Amino acid sequence: MKIIEIKNLHKVYTDNSVSVNALNGINLEFEEGEFSAIVGPSGSGKTTLLNIIGGLDDATKGTVTIDKVEINQLSPRKLTDFRMKNIGFVFQAYNLIPVLTVGENVEFIMHLQGAGKKEREARTQELLQAVGLGEMTDRRPSKLSGGQQQRVAVARALASKPKFVLADEPTANLDSKSTENLLDIMEKLNKEERITFIFSTHDARVVNKARRVITLEDGKIVSDIKNSNLNGDKKNSYSV
Ligand SMILES: Nc1ncnc2c1ncn2[C@@H]1O[C@H](COP(=O)(O)OP(=O)(O)OP(=O)(O)O)[C@@H](O)[C@H]1O
Ligand SMILES: [Mg+2]
Repeated sequence: MKIIEIKNLHKVYTDNSVSVNALNGINLEFEEGEFSAIVGPSGSGKTTLLNIIGGLDDATKGTVTIDKVEINQLSPRKLTDFRMKNIGFVFQAYNLIPVLTVGENVEFIMHLQGAGKKEREARTQELLQAVGLGEMTDRRPSKLSGGQQQRVAVARALASKPKFVLADEPTANLDSKSTENLLDIMEKLNKEERITFIFSTHDARVVNKARRVITLEDGKIVSDIKNSNLNGDKKNSYSV
């Protein structure tokens, strides 16, 4: 099933009369259950694309449709609600809340969603165990290593059972052991809970795990290679 459809996406940043064409006509579709990497040189538009897919930034032109909802058409309030119900973010800009414990950070969105205490605690414990932090529930984020904080961010992104997770360089700053752990968790959740993952990365280890690799250059897609084993899906060619 098609979960995300991006049509003719353009993004122009204008700062002090200087314009940057960050995205130049992106057309993409993502199927439910994909595990896809967006790669490309620094400045090629990866973060911009993920921000727009997640409704954190507006496109200059073009549309993003998620589960048949054109997100550009939603009011700010509806968009916030839509994001909360559907999307998990692992973005560096989305830092953990320092005054909350690890467990409270993970529970936060479930709380906003109105989940009961028992359910929140059970899911939080399950996720923290999955990311290898079952013993750290009551600590504050500042008492964790960078890699551990990143794993809390992953647990938090998954707590609300999102349809898909957008991750901007989720393994940046992680050592190889933590990178491996994080990839294992992401793959497990992809397979077991059918959560769709779209992540940007510069990391070859992460690219190797992806079942589809989309390469951006100067805000354009220059290649889109999909492993034909993906979900047993027969389609294995995407237009570039
Ligand atoms: N807020 C902004 N204002 C102006 N220009 C911006 C802004 N954000 C990004 N850009 C520009 O848009 C282009 C794409 O940036 P983007 O951050 O999407 O690249 P990226 O592929 O994520 O790079 P990196 O690998 O370094 O994270 C770059 O030329 C960048 O300088
Ligand atoms: Mg970036």
